[in-house]
Amino acid sequence: MAGKNNATISAQKLARLIHAAAKARERAVAPYSQFRVGAALLTKSGQVITGANVESASYGLTCCAERVALFSALTSGKRDFTAVAVVARASGGPMPCGACRQLLAEYASDAKVFVADSRRLKAVKQFSVRELLPGAFLDFRPA
Ligand code: THU
Repeated sequence: MAGKNNATISAQKLARLIHAAAKARERAVAPYSQFRVGAALLTKSGQVITGANVESASYGLTCCAERVALFSALTSGKRDFTAVAVVARASGGPMPCGACRQLLAEYASDAKVFVADSRRLKAVKQFSVRELLPGAFLDFRPA
């Protein structure tokens, strides 16, 4: 496993989370890019919430897998995310886009981020949300 954070979830839980993301990827709606992405969030209590990217003919309306998963989890009342796995057919695994990093920084700041290529699910890279978005914008209120 690459990356510099100490794993906080067991190898078994990680494998399950990666597989959940790979399974979610099968439900991606990506007729324009054909780039299918699956994401799976893990809560402290062990619940797994998944999502996949959904594209629009008005391209800018597209929503990434990570945000679909996060919005689904949040609007189901889930909080306290310990990990998120992201899977796509991308060498070395798909790196979350800037917009998703922002949302993760706001709602899953303590989560570990695991990425894997759908063709090599056992080769997992690990990051922290903080290292993916240092100095995140988190508070609009004046000091
Ligand atoms: N995509 C994601 O789902 N997650 C990312 O972190 C990056 C990009 C999706 C959006 C779009 O449907 C497709 O990948 C190509 O950009």
